[in-house]
Amino acid sequence: MRIRTLGTTGPQVSALGLGCMGMSALYGEADRAESIATIHAALDTGITLLDTGDFYGMGHNELLISEALRTAPAASREQALTSVKFGALRTVEGGFTGYDGRPDAVKNFAAYSLQRLGADHIDLYRIARVDPDVPVEETVGAIAELVAAGHVRHIGMSEVGAETLRRAAAVAPIADLQIEYSLISRGIEDEILPTARELGIGVTAYGVLSRGLISGHFTRDRQLSPGDFRGISPRFQGENLQHNLDLVDALRKIAEQKGVSVAQTAIAWVLSRGEDIVPLIGARTRERLAEAVGALDVTLDDADLTAIEQAVPVGAAAGERYPAAQMAHLDSEH
Ligand SMILES: NC(=O)c1ccc[n+]([C@@H]2O[C@H](COP(=O)([O-])OP(=O)(O)OC[C@H]3O[C@@H](n4cnc5c(N)ncnc54)[C@H](OP(=O)(O)O)[C@@H]3O)[C@@H](O)[C@H]2O)c1
Repeated sequence: MRIRTLGTTGPQVSALGLGCMGMSALYGEADRAESIATIHAALDTGITLLDTGDFYGMGHNELLISEALRTAPAASREQALTSVKFGALRTVEGGFTGYDGRPDAVKNFAAYSLQRLGADHIDLYRIARVDPDVPVEETVGAIAELVAAGHVRHIGMSEVGAETLRRAAAVAPIADLQIEYSLISRGIEDEILPTARELGIGVTAYGVLSRGLISGHFTRDRQLSPGDFRGISPRFQGENLQHNLDLVDALRKIAEQKGVSVAQTAIAWVLSRGEDIVPLIGARTRERLAEAVGALDVTLDDADLTAIEQAVPVGAAAGERYPAAQMAHLDSEH
């Protein structure tokens, strides 16, 4: 497994991380046994970074990771690093009502996560979206206190813009910024990525397959189950979906010429954007995981990169990456 380092102060991690969200929420039913087998297979293949959020299935995802780590061979369990997001407020019905970044809330969230994970520390801890009512300095300061107490190893950020990243980095060392980045979500390239680089902050990229949209497996007539995020995501609606899948068809031609899959091409493209970027792969099955890991063997030369960017030019996607109400929570989009 190739290794990358998260920023100048962060840990060394596998060049691909496993994002576990879809094993508990947002993409329809997941199979628990297959989810655990997928985490085990990821650890076996040398993946060390497991990404989760305490609100993914309201604790379900952390308990799943805890079980997978408990039942994994000791050697891979010891190498595994947990990256946990917190702060999202939920309703009994499963809705999202906002974010809480007050220092006491941060410490409360962390206490529950440590309990669910069955761990004495969290490797990377971050608020999922900044709380607009709490200065980011206070939220980051509270995580820094958790670091000082040994409960957290490194501080991360999620979906923040350049200015907020600077404010956070002025409080304490920030290891990584977790943010959406893919062939069809390139918004970070203008200001956020250069700022992260200037500050020595790594990037853990999510949505590298745009939630399956550019995986090559998403069909034009796919029926989504109730509660699937993609059922409300603008890029998966009507004409937007058809337009975006046309882009995937163009990408497929390049992938076929190289003898690799569409998903591997999309992941390899993100890997090619810099040694400071670690794609988080949302595989929920061993089959999808194996495909994703195969991207590490795909080399894209200059001609490949030009062809890929001609097939999927900057800004080519139709539709925003979140519904309007969720876009409003994205500091990175302001
Ligand atoms: N910080 C944030 O705001 C934020 C937001 C979202 C996610 N995340 C994190 O980032 C992780 C990854 O995000 P994501 O799940 O949206 O990413 P993704 O990798 O873009 O999408 C995962 C989806 O792609 C499909 N897929 C098809 N082929 C695949 C392959 N070979 N490997 C992996 N997936 C394949 C999967 O479909 P099937 O399972 O249906 O086959 C799954 O539904 C999440 O698990 C979460 O930890 C963070």
